[in-house]
Order: sequence, then C-alpha cells, then structure tokens
Amino acid sequence: MKNIVKIYDEHYKKFEKDKPLGIRYPSEALVIFISNLRKNKKNYFDDQGKEYSKNNNFRGKALDIGFGSIANLLMLKDKGFKCYGADVSGVAVRRGNIFLKKKKISGIFLKKFNNGKLKYAENSFDIVIGLQSIYYNLDLRKFIDNQIYKILKPQGKFIFSFFSSSHSYIKYSSKYKKNIYYFNKSHPNKRLYGSKYYKVKDKKELIKMFDKFKNVKVFQTKSNQTHIRENWWYVVGEK
Ligand SMILES: C[S@@+](CC[C@H](N)C(=O)[O-])C[C@H]1O[C@@H](n2cnc3c(N)ncnc32)[C@H](O)[C@@H]1O
Repeated sequence: MKNIVKIYDEHYKKFEKDKPLGIRYPSEALVIFISNLRKNKKNYFDDQGKEYSKNNNFRGKALDIGFGSIANLLMLKDKGFKCYGADVSGVAVRRGNIFLKKKKISGIFLKKFNNGKLKYAENSFDIVIGLQSIYYNLDLRKFIDNQIYKILKPQGKFIFSFFSSSHSYIKYSSKYKKNIYYFNKSHPNKRLYGSKYYKVKDKKELIKMFDKFKNVKVFQTKSNQTHIRENWWYVVGEK
C-alpha cells in the first residue's frame, strides 16, 4: 500500500519542470457555490440588474485543502478573498509558489501540512474548501470535528466533495479496514493504486459526519462526458 503523500509527490514531479500543474480552470461546482454566496436565500432573483456588479465583492479569507493546482485559489482570489492553500504534497506547494512568483501574483499563500494538522489560527477562515481531497484524511471524523471546526469562523462556510457510491472509481476499491478502502490493481489509473481513502456509504452518513455544523446540505453532480462515470457528493454548510 502506498503512502498518499508519495503518490502525489511522484505524480506532480512528472509534470514539466517549473510549469504549473495542468489544471488551469476552477471546478464548476465551486464556481457556482461561491457565486451563490451573494444570493438572497429567500429570494434568489432579487439581485436582477445587479448580478454583475456584485460578482466580485467578497471579503475575508479562504482556504483550499488539498489544492493540488492553484486553479481554484486563483478564482477565489479573483472573487475578492485572501487565499490560503494547504496540501500534503510539498511538490504541489513548490510548483504553486513558482507560478505565483513568476506571474507576480500576491494574496495567495501556500503551505504543506502534515499528520492531519492544519496550522492556522482558530476562527480565521470565512470559506474552507476541499475538493477530491478531504477523504484522504482517514481519521475523517476527527479531522472535521477538530481541524475544520477550529479554523472556520462562526458562520464561516465549507464545501467538500466525496465519491458517491455510483462513481465508477468505487468499483476498483478493496476494503482496508472499517470505512477505509484503497484503489486496487484493477483501477485503470495506475498511479492511484494503493491510495487509501475514507469511503462514505450514503448521503445520510455524510450529513451525520458534519453534525457539529449548521445548515448542512448534500448535493450531487454526475457526468458521463468522459470515459469516467463521475458521480460526486458535495457537502456544504457553516459553523
Ligand atoms: C485529485 S487531487 C485534487 C486536487 C484539487 N483539489 C482539485 O480539485 O483539482 C487530490 C489532492 O489531494 C491531496 N491530498 C493527499 N492527501 C491529502 C490529505 N490527507 N488531505 C488533503 N489533501 C490531500 C493531494 O496531494 C492532491 O493534491
């Protein structure tokens, strides 16, 4: 079984030297989530005529956990947030910083994190995101209850994605121990072989996992646009 840090460090090392990682555009679900923060929840359409002027007026601090590429962070910065990225891969951090320096981009701060410890001040983030990444924290409940809860401000919001039970990758998994699975040798993406992840059984379990938070909701996206049948659960909510 391979260590997840090694898997991603080796993966990111293979990319062209001194170039940013291939992903240049943010995740669609995240763009929609952030854009909708400005919406009045009771009257969705009451911003008609002002939609555009209100597009980039966010304030506060955003953290991307397991950012990999800085595409999501660049979008968050463009929307007005001061941005932070944490990844277990030192290579992701180094490559991200090379790009930021080269393009003279300020206001995005990257750092490596270890052993499931997010070293940021308590109550400091308005937004915390973790897309296709947070489930690599195998002691997931503890990570959410202690680390995520600690760093979010009261009313601070989060969005995290999880493989749904219908994602095609799930069938290439074997059980490691309770709730923890790993991608086995049948997985078509060989570099992922041995990656252990926390497998959420259903939406009910996912909502329960975040029961320390308020307004928790799960939505789902699915697509058969590529050869992978993607099917994700997204959990959103606030402290
Ligand atoms: C599939 S990539 C997703 C990257 C990015 N979030 C995106 O949506 O494009 C998974 C990322 O999770 C990171 N990762 C690995 N273990 C992690 C952990 N325990 N917590 C958070 N992220 C982790 C990897 O280094 C990698 O950058």
